Amino acid sequence: MAERMGFPTSIERVERLTPTLRRFVLRAQKQALPPVSPGSYATLEFGDGEKVYKNAYSIVMRSEDGLELTVIVRLAPQSRGGSRFLHEKGQPGLPVWIGSVANLFPIVKTARRHLLLSAGIGITPFLSYLKKMRSIGADYTLHHFCRPEERSAFDALLSEQDQTRVFVHTGLPSEVGLADWLRDESIATHVYFCGPEGFMKWVEETTHKLGFAPGKVHSEHFFVPEGGRPFEVILARSGRRVSVKADETLLEALELADVDAPCMCRGGACGACEVTVLGGQPDHRDHVLTEAERASGNIILTCVSRAKTDTLTLDL
Ligand code: FES
Repeated sequence: MAERMGFPTSIERVERLTPTLRRFVLRAQKQALPPVSPGSYATLEFGDGEKVYKNAYSIVMRSEDGLELTVIVRLAPQSRGGSRFLHEKGQPGLPVWIGSVANLFPIVKTARRHLLLSAGIGITPFLSYLKKMRSIGADYTLHHFCRPEERSAFDALLSEQDQTRVFVHTGLPSEVGLADWLRDESIATHVYFCGPEGFMKWVEETTHKLGFAPGKVHSEHFFVPEGGRPFEVILARSGRRVSVKADETLLEALELADVDAPCMCRGGACGACEVTVLGGQPDHRDHVLTEAERASGNIILTCVSRAKTDTLTLDL
């Protein structure tokens, strides 16, 4: 049997930030955890014996001795179980396996100025950015948007930051004048944004309208894969058939059937889970494929995408 890659940890501390946000500190059981850079995420595996959940979370902090990682988990209304499990059963001592650590959202080292825009749980990658930016004397500003009832929690999370550079807002970006601030930025500014879908769309469209070069606009889509109608997958190489239930992803169904399926971010952002489609029509839900790739129907990202047809035949 192949050796399992990753790092065994267990929950060391849990802190309730709001009714829907909890901070978890994970402590390594053996060796130090892998190095991380601002913007890194980790894929975590946890469960209770009945079901194993695998989710990716932004790393808020790695302790100096490398033994602890901190993540913040939001209880998503559309949670298919992972974040709900952590909120309800994630207590000190619970084993958590760290499968991989990667960074799809790094700080651009050559940028002269950084504008960070976040909403809700989208603050998490920036919590690691802020520490680094302060330490290197970078020119940056963070605007964070949240619901009024969560304001005190985010104020507390950001209380140790430079208050002349960090701003928390409870109105919508369009109401508080974010477009005007973007307009006032120099064309050399790099814009980074992370938050719920509506917020992402708003920033994407606004930066595009204002003429920001695509290479200066960076985003991290944290994406909870949603369920949908069930379908069946035919694995062309073996002829096996795997059913994908309404509340599970294609990737989860493949893993449950012990099919060796590639993956990394598990949120439609990295492209690592791409598989060739030989039959059927994919229902694309990722942030990676181009319009031409989607239209071709020849590939699918199994972590988030589903099928429009009753069956999909995959080159697996
Ligand atoms: S695992 Fe990253 S896009 Fe699917």
